[in-house]
Amino acid sequence: MHALHSPPHLGSFDSRKTPVLKTDVLVIGAGIAGAAAALSAADQGKSVLCLSKTAFEETNTAYAQGGVAAVLDAEDSPQSHLADTLAVGGGIADAELAKSILERGPEAVAWLEALGASFDRDAAGSYLLGREGGHSRSRVVHANGDATGIEIQRVLSAALMAHTQITCMTHTFVRDLLSSADRCVGAVILTERGEMAVEAGAVILAAGGAGQVYRETTNPIGACGDGVALAFRAGATLADMEFVQFHPTTLYIAGASRFLITEVVRGAGAKLRDREGKRFMEGLHPLAELAPRDVVSRAILQRMVDTDDTHVYLDLSGLDRDPHQQFPSISRICRAFDIDIAKDPIPVRPGAHYFLGGVRVDGQGRSDVDGLFAVGEAAATFFHGANRLASNSLLEGAVLGMAAGVVAAEDSRPATLPSRVEGPPASENPPRLHLDDMLYSLKSLMWRQVGLIRDHQGLIEARERIDLWHHYLLASRPADQRGYELTNMLTVSALVAAAATEREESRGTHFRSDHPDRNDRRWCRHLMLRRNEKGAIAVLEGNLNPASDSR
Ligand code: SIN
Repeated sequence: MHALHSPPHLGSFDSRKTPVLKTDVLVIGAGIAGAAAALSAADQGKSVLCLSKTAFEETNTAYAQGGVAAVLDAEDSPQSHLADTLAVGGGIADAELAKSILERGPEAVAWLEALGASFDRDAAGSYLLGREGGHSRSRVVHANGDATGIEIQRVLSAALMAHTQITCMTHTFVRDLLSSADRCVGAVILTERGEMAVEAGAVILAAGGAGQVYRETTNPIGACGDGVALAFRAGATLADMEFVQFHPTTLYIAGASRFLITEVVRGAGAKLRDREGKRFMEGLHPLAELAPRDVVSRAILQRMVDTDDTHVYLDLSGLDRDPHQQFPSISRICRAFDIDIAKDPIPVRPGAHYFLGGVRVDGQGRSDVDGLFAVGEAAATFFHGANRLASNSLLEGAVLGMAAGVVAAEDSRPATLPSRVEGPPASENPPRLHLDDMLYSLKSLMWRQVGLIRDHQGLIEARERIDLWHHYLLASRPADQRGYELTNMLTVSALVAAAATEREESRGTHFRSDHPDRNDRRWCRHLMLRRNEKGAIAVLEGNLNPASDSR
């Protein structure tokens, strides 16, 4: 059996041959967490270089529909928001951190409004608040119905581009982080003008999640887990990698992209039905269609098996308001497939949506590698725990992004790049690979064996295949973004499968059919993962109390 062997760098670097850009703070990613970090670091007077692998419109933030969860209604309370967050978090969320983030919800919304975001309000000027799964009341601020992310990314992108201290580079891929004297001091980047290096006083990873490792996902094409893989190779501790949230409802039409159908639709009263038109969430959970996402997603999969169907249906016909007005983006996308959402049920199935795991950081985004920070979906703060309450992640991104930007600016110091680093050793007989074939095989394997329902045998088999593919790919000497991205996806997949094998219980988003119960006595704790000296994955058990974990 091949164990994963991850080299510290995917390519060589020679400081005499590579053009170098210098900055106080390098931010990798430009969604809400990266933008908040970049803006707050720049406001400290630091020079900031903010990189995005894609156009700003393609961040996961821009894809968000539901909105930002915040206590903005006099009848709501931070205590209620906290209780809902912890209930969904499956016993391993950090209650103190959650409390401090949730209390700053109104401030985060006000900050976005000050940047120009316009959230939906009624004629009297009160916020129109949506309700999503796991929330005991309506508290989700949204924009243009279901186009919240587009509105938020619009104002963040404009603020990034307008700030005199910030340089933005889109379509720029980060291949490797660079370290010197045990400190992260920059990165090797692939730009439209060729390979360059960045010398940085501090580095903030905000590269998002890795939904693209699954066949079905709500995530944009760039969500390949690059940030997590970069941090792993750089020696940072990761945590909670077994916890991947699947969203119950993505549009399912063969050949169409898996467009998210926001949970706010179910919050507004839409019902899940099978091909016979029968509701199936009633009786399964007291909150029925608004049960936590893992419960609804598994119920949908079960119904698909029971009815021998590829999907179930979401029925919006009984909503109080006109769904075309309330959900204009969903209406437009469905209309392209001749589905009138006021009358026709929408075919849906679950898709990978959010990675709870990532780079283990404290409440200010600090990792255990000097000079390296992480925020947003790339980070594991333990705010969410084993499952995430809907619309809490844009909030976390804004609050902790701003905090990390300030701390990284303070921590920034003159850096010196290493003069040389070596890539993986050359192979004598490199295999010729069809990368698309490997990619689709990985996505299918992850969906079938490391997805919503897992078991020991399936995980072990998946790990063997992933490790072998990773070995073949490195031996083929990938030398472009496509090859590096696939290497990152295989690395992240191996990390998810390793942690999922280890956690022999079911909790939150992690369900093991061979260990279907939650085991608090044994597993009320987090799993940490690190690259060992051979480049393999070492899995360590942390404690529930984040102050005493292995950071
Ligand atoms: C949704 O709109 O259903 C997604 C919101 C989220 O995942 O936070």
